[in-house]
Amino acid sequence: MIDLDQFVADCVAANQESEAQAAVNEVLARLVSTPGAVLAALGDPKSAGLNVLHSSPTLTIFAATWTPQMNLMPHNHLMWANIGIYTGREDNIYWKQTSDGIRAFGADALFEKDTSMMPVDVVHSVTNPLLRFTGGIHIYGGDFFGTKRSMWNPETLEEEPSDGDIIRGIFQRENERLGL
Ligand SMILES: [Fe+2]
Repeated sequence: MIDLDQFVADCVAANQESEAQAAVNEVLARLVSTPGAVLAALGDPKSAGLNVLHSSPTLTIFAATWTPQMNLMPHNHLMWANIGIYTGREDNIYWKQTSDGIRAFGADALFEKDTSMMPVDVVHSVTNPLLRFTGGIHIYGGDFFGTKRSMWNPETLEEEPSDGDIIRGIFQRENERLGL
């Protein structure tokens, strides 16, 4: 059985190390190496949601669940981010900022047990390509919900303001769209 409180405590301790992002990712990789146990601890995802496990000015940890084939537009974080998948699959498109707006330049498909370490300046968009739910643990080296950030319109790529409330609203509307 997974002890999520212990996991959070281990992440908080790892975040004190000099190579904090890598140290936290080691803790995360250990957790998602037993994806069935994580799923048992968090429960089967039944809607899009953000289950916050820890929130402080220096570290935010939540389980994010994606509805089947859910998409999230390009967005930045302005802090490092580690993602580990415990069920399903999460496809990432990476974007770079150019003088002419953002432009896609790379991709990564994350499966169960995979983790990804994203740098402070990352811009990515996310898709669950599956016909079932995807769940991942997301860890950020800062106050994810309180930080004013940007997202980019998926069709025009125009930059718009974003923050935790806006992201929560996107997840809520996804559930409304699917009648969940
Ligand atoms: Fe993100």
